[in-house]
Amino acid sequence: MRPQWVIGNWKMNGGLAANQALLAGVLDAARLVGSVRIGVSAPFPYLLQCQQMLGESSVVWGAQDISAEIGGAFTGEVSGAMLSDFDCGIVIVGHSERRIYHGESEGRVAEKALRAVENGMRPVFCIGETQAQHDAGETEAVLARQLSPLFVLLNDTRLAMVIVAYEPVWAIGTGKTPTPEGAQAVHRFIRTQLAAHGLADTLPVIYGGSVKPDNAARFFAQPDIDGGLIGGASLDAAEFLAIVKAAQ
Ligand code: G3H
Repeated sequence: MRPQWVIGNWKMNGGLAANQALLAGVLDAARLVGSVRIGVSAPFPYLLQCQQMLGESSVVWGAQDISAEIGGAFTGEVSGAMLSDFDCGIVIVGHSERRIYHGESEGRVAEKALRAVENGMRPVFCIGETQAQHDAGETEAVLARQLSPLFVLLNDTRLAMVIVAYEPVWAIGTGKTPTPEGAQAVHRFIRTQLAAHGLADTLPVIYGGSVKPDNAARFFAQPDIDGGLIGGASLDAAEFLAIVKAAQ
């Protein structure tokens, strides 16, 4: 039985005061629902605040991006070693907002996953098809293509650190979702891709895209969905708690 994960992706939201209240809510969720693995992905400037507030808890925290470079003259980049200084346990890589707005290629995203693992963090490796790809029946081909550089760059031991997040681009922030059964079928396909590496039954594969308190339980009840990557609803402590409860 794989554990369920609920990871909040705050995106570019928050501030010191607001985060303090939100993190207090996340701590309550962790105390109330000890069986669910809870994560927070905060903007870089708030990693110290996460470390200070979550350090004694079971909650893991981390960033929303990591440099594919190790260090040096890369203005604006943040390295894996720097994230380690703040005890980050997870880092999102390849979120569609990075792929689309920052032109991150499939190869680059896999390099970022490797940097995360090298620095002791679990990469939350995001994959997902656009609406047009979905409508054209290309979902499986797109996901296989997004996963393939990961299989080239990471050996099976390193792959075991990955958390895969299936996020259909058309479901992110839109209120639209696949049916839970439709998402389940995609997660099943992702597991077939992991099978060659002996990880089909063990790697967490979580779902993201308009997960809310009123639909979370139906997604989490699917056999191959191991929790969620939560955007908008992770910014509201009560909604986040309700989603965590749905995962228990
Ligand atoms: O990383 C989270 C996803 O982009 C989902 O965002 O829950 O606001 O749709 P959302």
